[in-house]
Amino acid sequence: MSKAKILITRKWPASVEAELMKHYDVQCNDSDVAMTVDELRAALGEYDAILPTVTDNMGAAVFDTDTIRTKAICNYGVGFSHIDIPAAQAAGITVTNTPDVLSECTADIAMTLMLMVARRAGEGEREVRAGAWSGWRPTHLIGKKASNKKVGIVGFGRIGQEFARRAHFGFNCEIFVQNRSQVAQDKLDQVNATQVPDLETLFQTCDVISLHCPGGDANRHLINADIMAHSKPGLILINTARGEVVDEVALAQTLHDGTIGGAGLDVFEGEPNIMSDTLNAPNIVMLPHLGSATDETRVEMGMRAMENLNAIMSGKAPRDPVT
Ligand code: DGY
Repeated sequence: MSKAKILITRKWPASVEAELMKHYDVQCNDSDVAMTVDELRAALGEYDAILPTVTDNMGAAVFDTDTIRTKAICNYGVGFSHIDIPAAQAAGITVTNTPDVLSECTADIAMTLMLMVARRAGEGEREVRAGAWSGWRPTHLIGKKASNKKVGIVGFGRIGQEFARRAHFGFNCEIFVQNRSQVAQDKLDQVNATQVPDLETLFQTCDVISLHCPGGDANRHLINADIMAHSKPGLILINTARGEVVDEVALAQTLHDGTIGGAGLDVFEGEPNIMSDTLNAPNIVMLPHLGSATDETRVEMGMRAMENLNAIMSGKAPRDPVT
């Protein structure tokens, strides 16, 4: 029997590509350039499964074709706001993602950003590299203490819970949670957290707020000028979720006018393009979407996508269907 044809849209860890090649007729993307909408649409007619990632814009236009061979879209990543799920389902395609395996590393990057912004580490590193450090002095690059702060978490899923653990047990922070549904009391109790009824309360209460909710239309610009106007003075905002969750124009404005005290961003609305007002905003630390970027996690993401693919290709229910 001939092997199923699959397309991996970006370069993956070599060990996972090799594993996939044992079982499938695999088309890799050695140039590692993101595919266009036209190329993705054509791929639906050519491959039994497509293994895309966040840089593949699989909106409704991709599914606007009568020739569909693809049965499975096994996304490499937990977030799937780049895929039009109803359009995929209408085309008879099962979509999966890779939850769990990247929760710890993404929470680590959120904590990295929280510490870097609070302690002005980005500014300090730039100063050293520029040869501009004139030596220790009592008033040099004074930041804010990270320990014992009130930390707010928007979205108390797996990554939000990992971040809460780090902030609570590592830095003795008091945890506040805003989540669209009621969080089970035992989950809150694990980090001694309090669930607040709305974002306004969270912004009024907390010194640091970290976003861990899904992206997509439902949460587009959830964090906007109106919400940020409720901020406690000096608030630090961390976004490792999706760029569209924050109104980037409003964020740059609030940083420039001092409504909030700082921001740490791993994701951006139009990434990899970043607005100049964001780039030159005061007290901002920016990373190039590194949340899951460790050897261990990137391999686990690939293996998890393969587990989902294997299930679908053998007519079984996948572990991580996206609905
Ligand atoms: C994820 O898994 O959603 C990461 O942001 C990479 O896409």
